[in-house]
Amino acid sequence: MNNKINKILKKKNKSKIICLTAYSKNVAEAIDSYTDIVLVGDSLGSVLYNYSTTRKVTLDQMIEHSKSVRLGVKSSLMVVDMPYRTYRNKKIALKNAKKVLKETKSDAVKLEGGSSIINIIEHLIKNKIPVMGHLGILPQSVKGKFKFKGKKNTERNKIFNDAKLLEKIGVFSIVLECVETTLAKQISKKLKIPTIGIGSSKFCDGQILVIDDLIGLNDTKVRFVKKFGQIKKNISKAAKNFGRAVKNKKYPSKIYSY
Ligand code: KIV
Repeated sequence: MNNKINKILKKKNKSKIICLTAYSKNVAEAIDSYTDIVLVGDSLGSVLYNYSTTRKVTLDQMIEHSKSVRLGVKSSLMVVDMPYRTYRNKKIALKNAKKVLKETKSDAVKLEGGSSIINIIEHLIKNKIPVMGHLGILPQSVKGKFKFKGKKNTERNKIFNDAKLLEKIGVFSIVLECVETTLAKQISKKLKIPTIGIGSSKFCDGQILVIDDLIGLNDTKVRFVKKFGQIKKNISKAAKNFGRAVKNKKYPSKIYSY
């Protein structure tokens, strides 16, 4: 098994696993020393392209952004999301996953879903493609508003059983997206592989956030997002200072000229 994946597995019950998304080299480079996993998420569809759904994201887009991210990731495990319909059957999934790993030199892929795609994930793993699972809210399947998962017993049982099934067939970890606290705790306790939460409480083995949310580059207001930075304000300030310096003929001065 990939050494980086082994390191992540060993963190279970010892130290929290830190994950962030990245869509480009410079951001990846800035976070790499502070993350265990960098995910090129298909959230780039809404974050960068303003798509109303991640369903519009293409494999080519994922590959191009991943190539850029690869240039900035040295120590973290790099995982790439397989976009909508790129894993609709075993054959297509394997062809596309191989293409992603080969062209982007990433370490693993992530697929959304449990029992409904279990034979597809199993096929990838049997063919030596490391897979990260994703349960709870599955953005590629949601139409309309996102609602947290695990309110009803039937839903709780389904997510719990899907998590056990994914572990059984060999995924190396599972993202739990907006899963109710006690259910996320129960799953994290039951599984030997790490759970990575997003809006799924402190009881997960690790946490992931979308980078633009965390650094305050967008205006997202979601309950589980804490802004750890104010980058948008800093960019505006830099742009304003640049404009002022140009108008006042202070920039470019001699030292910035040839
Ligand atoms: O696409 C993405 O960024 C994700 C994370 C939110 C887990 O799947």
